[in-house]
Amino acid sequence: MDKAQPGILAPVPRLARYLSFSLTFGMEPRRSVQSLVDWVDGNNTIVGFGYPLLQAMGRTIEGLRTFPSYLGSGLALPSTQEALWFWLRGTDRGELLHRSRKILGAVAPAFKCESVIDGFQYDTGRDLTGFEDGTENPQGEKAIGAALVQGKGEGLDGSSFVAVQQWVHDFARFDALTPKEQDDSVGRRKSDNEELPDAPPSAHVKRTAQESFAPQAFILRRSMPWADGVRGGLNFVAFGKSLDAFEAQLKRMVGAEDGIIDGLFQYTRPINGSYFWCPPVHNGRLDLRALGL
Ligand code: HEM
Repeated sequence: MDKAQPGILAPVPRLARYLSFSLTFGMEPRRSVQSLVDWVDGNNTIVGFGYPLLQAMGRTIEGLRTFPSYLGSGLALPSTQEALWFWLRGTDRGELLHRSRKILGAVAPAFKCESVIDGFQYDTGRDLTGFEDGTENPQGEKAIGAALVQGKGEGLDGSSFVAVQQWVHDFARFDALTPKEQDDSVGRRKSDNEELPDAPPSAHVKRTAQESFAPQAFILRRSMPWADGVRGGLNFVAFGKSLDAFEAQLKRMVGAEDGIIDGLFQYTRPINGSYFWCPPVHNGRLDLRALGL
């Protein structure tokens, strides 16, 4: 689909950086947002706008809302809705650092950097627990159908909504589980990635089985492991034509439907959560018509 920021549909890069920004109180963001058109290519650098930014600009995008928080059954999933998000795709840490510095300068002083997360590929695309991640991602036309807005008109078609959550793994707790308990938590065998026929209902792939929702809940996951010192986990990133599929899955993961909590929560938890709207491109440049720019 030539209207999408192309990096969304491209394979996950070797290395990445995720930058999140809040809006500086009292600042007018329009000029900074307009300038993105000159340097965000949508391929190596993908951009998303959060609800606080749209609100400051007096604009709405149908379907964009703030990230929900969930409390209950011993779980606390935070909503830390930010205003602006960049996903930098790359292959060289030095280049990513310098690109981040330029971005910080380009959006200042209207936007303040709140977090920088370094992402990378582990082995053949595994989560840091060793499980293959992304197996059931929709491919080709199905990926386009799941991830991109279509049939809504110029300025909206080709755009995408993205859910972003940084999960922190408790590696000691994970290591203390037996191999069977680990496999049961995901519902796939770590050794060969086969789906377990007798996985418990709490298994992650049972909780999130995309065909099992009504309507079906397909999302395009582009998550990557992250690490900082000896801490690490998964920076979960899922693109959708709306935020509904992600939200339906997250609700089931926390047990909001049937009280059954996703097995992953035994050893990992999210420490933040934001939604963004990623604008489309037009003639190879960001298309900000939906924001009146
Ligand atoms: C630390 C957090 C997470 C880890 C380590 C993780 C890991 C995995 C793994 C190993 C798989 C199986 C292979 C695959 O199909 O990719 C999987 C599947 C999946 N995950 Fe996650 N995941 C996490 C969070 C989430 C969240 C927050 C959601 C959505 C709310 C989600 C949605 C899915 C979906 C839709 C599938 C495919 C299910 C299917 O249709 O078979 N995951 N995940």
